[in-house]
Amino acid sequence: MMKPLILVTGGAGYVGSHTCLSLLEAGYPVVVVDNLSNSKAESLRRVEKLSAKKLFFYPVDICDPEALKKVFMLHSVGAVIHFAGFKAVGESVEKPLEYYHNNVYGTMVLLECMREAGVRTIIFSSSATVYGMTEKVPFREDAPTSATNPYGRSKLFIEHILLDLCVADPSWRVTLLRYFNPVGAHPSGEIGEDPRGIPNNLMPFVCQVAVGRLKELQVFGNDYPTPDGTGVRDYIHVLDLAEGHVKALEAAETQQGAAIYNLGTGRGHSVLELIRAFEKANGIKIPYSISGRRPGDIAASYADVQKAEKCLNWKTQRTLEDMVRDAWNWQKKNPEGYA
Ligand code: NAD
Ligand code: UFG
Repeated sequence: MMKPLILVTGGAGYVGSHTCLSLLEAGYPVVVVDNLSNSKAESLRRVEKLSAKKLFFYPVDICDPEALKKVFMLHSVGAVIHFAGFKAVGESVEKPLEYYHNNVYGTMVLLECMREAGVRTIIFSSSATVYGMTEKVPFREDAPTSATNPYGRSKLFIEHILLDLCVADPSWRVTLLRYFNPVGAHPSGEIGEDPRGIPNNLMPFVCQVAVGRLKELQVFGNDYPTPDGTGVRDYIHVLDLAEGHVKALEAAETQQGAAIYNLGTGRGHSVLELIRAFEKANGIKIPYSISGRRPGDIAASYADVQKAEKCLNWKTQRTLEDMVRDAWNWQKKNPEGYA
């Protein structure tokens, strides 16, 4: 049977490009809309090369209703996976209007286009950031939510908009996927994470130190109540995350209303553990020094993954060693990213 066509917003980005590959490999036809504000179309060419399949690409901004409508008119879309948005926490504090416009208004435009086209299935990229400053780990999906910055609030607002929509019209099928910390790359080294400027996140920073683009890593605090004092996170290989989206699509076929899932490994690793794993797997020393805590960071964050395992029939396969090896393989093969 022909699989439904999937519209992927933000498909040229880091998580999006890996998910497009998993979708094509699973036999789904794919249409990408991406305004390339934080990515390059080269990622999609490489996805086509890796899968030996074609996808449709439109350089469209989701905030542009006319352009987006045209895409829905040209293609018979079965479901939407919605990645498009801005994601830098610090920048969101400086540019709240830009963040709410792009993330919240952009999602509104998308949902109105979907409604008009009769498309009722959406999978949304939410974040573990919606668990706020909670100290009780692991995080379960029914834990209270809150946010401490405009980026996190934009995710929370969108979650509420989507949940309200399901209450008003039960024909919608909404899946909120709360990602923990996506890292790594496709093992081919053809696609990976290509941040603009100096990376905010740990793994791309470590990779750029390893490749010589940055001198030294700052470890943000070693006085947290964790085994070695450094922050603990649930790092998840981006390919496990991508496969989680395919599973969520399958589950949505028989789903009623809304569902929320954590996508993580269920295991936490500290900053020092990640550095050591990187050094051991790749045979490279990572110079670092300890500096003060980064404002807004919590001590530990990791997922309770029982719900995703049970309801999505999905479980991560890849280890921390796989993550650091694949991240470095991508960086080494593409020292300047896609440029
Ligand atoms: P990314 O920046 O690599 O990908 C986002 C893509 O959306 C980019 O290609 C960008 O060009 C595009 N985009 C942005 N605004 C757009 C618009 N108005 N119209 C069309 N395209 C637009 O980020 P990512 O890491 O792949 O994250 C994907 C999604 O997952 C984001 O919504 C992000 O908030 C969420 N998320 C990411 C992480 C993470 O650590 N990477 C964690 C939790 C949640
Ligand atoms: N860290 C350092 N040095 C760095 C960068 C990070 O020590 O240069 C530490 C942080 O303090 C933290 C850990 O490494 O303990 C991971 O930090 P990241 O910035 O990689 O990831 P976060 O968990 O802070 O943030 C990520 C996403 C956010 C999202 C959040 C919760 O980047 O968008 O997870 O889901 F909101």
